[in-house]
Amino acid sequence: MATLGLIGSGHIGGTLARLAVNAGLDVVLSNSRGPETLAGLVAELGPRARAATPAQAAEAGDWLVVTIPLKNSFQLSAAPLAGRLVLDTGNYYPERDGHFPRLDSGETTSSELVQEHLADSQVVKVFNNIYSGHLLALARPAGAPDRSALPIAGDDATAKERTTALLDALGYLAVDAGPLSAGWRFQPGTPAYGLPYLKDQSSRLDLDPGHPADIATVKEALTAATR
Ligand SMILES: NC(=O)c1ccc[n+]([C@@H]2O[C@H](COP(=O)([O-])OP(=O)(O)OC[C@H]3O[C@@H](n4cnc5c(N)ncnc54)[C@H](OP(=O)(O)O)[C@@H]3O)[C@@H](O)[C@H]2O)c1
Repeated sequence: MATLGLIGSGHIGGTLARLAVNAGLDVVLSNSRGPETLAGLVAELGPRARAATPAQAAEAGDWLVVTIPLKNSFQLSAAPLAGRLVLDTGNYYPERDGHFPRLDSGETTSSELVQEHLADSQVVKVFNNIYSGHLLALARPAGAPDRSALPIAGDDATAKERTTALLDALGYLAVDAGPLSAGWRFQPGTPAYGLPYLKDQSSRLDLDPGHPADIATVKEALTAATR
């Protein structure tokens, strides 16, 4: 049985855990405060889920998702993640993360910084451009006509293939946005960030029920991004 490992079990991590359990995957959740603090979520998710330390989640996961505030990603110990595919859901919000001059100047992107930190991992940027409520609401089985697409960016073709396979299992199609350096095309503030999945473009994310976005819609939004 395949296992999804999660470093971070908040809005996005908890949602991915739910989608994974629904898909018949085993899930190992972790956070910064310790496995015992995840007992309630684990009980809710059922027998396929367990909580562990971040290193144990990394070890157990066929896929490993890092889904924590960006600034905390640079505190992660790189060694347990070496040689692993790491799915990075992070976004740069200076008001939360503090200022990173290389991001403010546009010299690089947040996932490239994570890749620099996790130099021996294969980082793929994914799940960062959709509100957690929509991520849960818009998952659809393979073949459903209203399946939504999510952009992915990464430098390693095999890592992107494995990411696409995970998306398929969880209920999504993938749009390859290119190398990690193309991640700016679906960073905060771009047309691909949150907006394709809104029913009403003028509504607040958390009040909108969500709306499916097909491959063409997501590609169009990626193309429309400007720096
Ligand atoms: N919320 C969304 O809809 C959304 C959508 C797309 C992308 N994102 C991005 O995805 C990332 C996660 O967002 P979120 O909303 O899911 O965050 P969140 O709800 O605040 O959850 C953060 C999780 O990360 C854990 N964590 C923090 N530092 C950690 C560390 N050093 N080691 C292990 N675990 C750690 C926290 O555990 P403790 O509580 O124990 O510290 C918590 O489980 C952010 O970069 C965010 O911008 C969010």
